[in-house]
Amino acid sequence: MLSEPPASAFLADDTLRADIALRHFRRGRPVLWQGDFHGARQLLQALGRRTSSVPLLKMLLIPLEADYTVPLRRAPDVRSACLEAFGPATGPTAVPLRELLGVIGAHEWRVKGIEVPALGAKIHPHYGVFAPIRQEYLDLVVQAPVPEKFTAFDIGTGTGVLAALLARRGATKVVATDVNPRACACARENLERLGHDVEVLECDLFPPGRADLVVCNPPWVPGRAHSELELAIFDTDMLDRFLARLPDHLTPGGEGWLVLSDLAEHLGLRTREELQQRIDQAGLRVVDRLDTRPRHKRARADEITSLWRLQIARSRPAQ
Ligand SMILES: C[S@@+](CC[C@H](N)C(=O)[O-])C[C@H]1O[C@@H](n2cnc3c(N)ncnc32)[C@H](O)[C@@H]1O
Repeated sequence: MLSEPPASAFLADDTLRADIALRHFRRGRPVLWQGDFHGARQLLQALGRRTSSVPLLKMLLIPLEADYTVPLRRAPDVRSACLEAFGPATGPTAVPLRELLGVIGAHEWRVKGIEVPALGAKIHPHYGVFAPIRQEYLDLVVQAPVPEKFTAFDIGTGTGVLAALLARRGATKVVATDVNPRACACARENLERLGHDVEVLECDLFPPGRADLVVCNPPWVPGRAHSELELAIFDTDMLDRFLARLPDHLTPGGEGWLVLSDLAEHLGLRTREELQQRIDQAGLRVVDRLDTRPRHKRARADEITSLWRLQIARSRPAQ
């Protein structure tokens, strides 16, 4: 996040070489850039060729005025992007260039939107919210069978894309939840723009009550999250708690749809047997599983994303 430029920062411009900058960083001295904005981008690229250490790369700082103007030559106008990401500023600050480029990129995605063919519309992600860039899991949610009339919950809604799909598939009522306030704001905005009357609640896991269909695309990598965005990727217990509490939120005959990549299995972080065990322990049974392979070029070719259709098993294990 934003802070005042540190007193220890070294003022530098385009004459600074990457190896010298790196020497400062390794001694704990950030660089506060005074030169040309594009020069700073070039320096960051040169640094990236010398180190992959994110904490070191974050030591190249860009000054920001109190209105988020960047007081540098050839600097872009980042005022809207920073306001969206950081909220109103309280005074002059400094931001790692690496982070600022992420903020600018997020703003561009938000303005432009992401085409979602499964929805026949665009979704506009906000900064810090999981964006549906890989979309094969959306096709699974379109393909799985739904009853003629049904109510639905979308747990961990992110941009609201699955809630919108459920509404398009004919859900008579959809309630979406997320723990990330940025996600809730983003989902509300997208759903309103698409004309869907979906209630979005900022809460942990389930809203009160039961639904005929409860969908969840949880973070897929077991591990601790260190930021709001990482809440969408890393999970310590959401999957386990979702499965354990799902039966209490399903109507009789209702279904839970768990959307999950097997990346964690490829990385040796979870086994298929462990997942099946958690499903059994929750008193659930697998009615069907729909699989898909990634189309995104950065995904592993052997990764499979599945939609697990779960129902309450007739005999639930003793609690
Ligand atoms: C992989 S993203 C999926 C987002 C969206 N459903 C989609 O499919 O694009 C997981 C989402 O779960 C949310 N999340 C993480 N822990 C949660 C919890 N305990 N309760 C509700 N939402 C949670 C994250 O903030 C994130 O938006």
